[in-house]
Amino acid sequence: MSSGLFITFEGIDGSGKSTQAKMLVERLMADGLSVLHTREPGGSDGAEEIRQLLLTGDPDRWSAETEILLFTAARRDHLEKVIEPATERGDIVISDRFADSTRVYQGATRGDLRPMVDRLHEQMIGREPDLTFIVDMDPQKALSRGLARGSGEDRFEDFGLGFQETLRHGFLSLARDFQDRCVVIDGDRAAEQIAAEILAHVMDRL
Ligand code: ADP
Ligand code: TYD
Repeated sequence: MSSGLFITFEGIDGSGKSTQAKMLVERLMADGLSVLHTREPGGSDGAEEIRQLLLTGDPDRWSAETEILLFTAARRDHLEKVIEPATERGDIVISDRFADSTRVYQGATRGDLRPMVDRLHEQMIGREPDLTFIVDMDPQKALSRGLARGSGEDRFEDFGLGFQETLRHGFLSLARDFQDRCVVIDGDRAAEQIAAEILAHVMDRL
């Protein structure tokens, strides 16, 4: 049985998830807690290799179904090798994205593939976070932030503004479906202000 706290950050590209995940990790570590900072797609050696296949190259490289399989394969490796061992040790695991991203990006944007995403999740992953922060942002602002990074991993960001708007609604609808673990955070504020709100929620759970 797992005993550590499993926290995830979700939201559209450029909403400030990574910034907030990092700030939370630093703050909890400064308090002397044992924290593991990870991300998806990736987070384990095998999953990082799959990340490269998923995020670079032609936007039409993979069919939606193949993409679901690749994200799920990466997640399974990440779960087995990194997340489960850490939570079993009692660590706090903070992941930049997890299964909610697949539900929204693959499940709600290209036809209705959500039932397939849900079946695969149930069979191959079967784990939900204890706490999920959905960082909500106006897609126009988020997109200009995200593209400014120039990381080369912008296959999904290349799909454009309409796509990001669909994603935003997908995340907000997910927050309503999983109210026990999801907290919607207004991402259009100073980073320090957002971090303080997030920390208060985490302290409540701890
Ligand atoms: P995500 O992980 O959601 O894609 P990032 O944390 O990488 O987003 O942030 C995207 C960009 O926006 C980065 O350049 C980051 O420095 C900047 N940023 C993050 N949070 C804020 C904020 N609250 N206000 C203004 N800019 C921000
Ligand atoms: P990420 O590195 O978090 O990008 P960003 O910092 O721009 O938010 O994630 C890379 C991309 O992968 C992002 O566009 C979302 C997408 N993604 C999916 O489509 N499905 C998934 O299951 C995951 C985890 C990510």
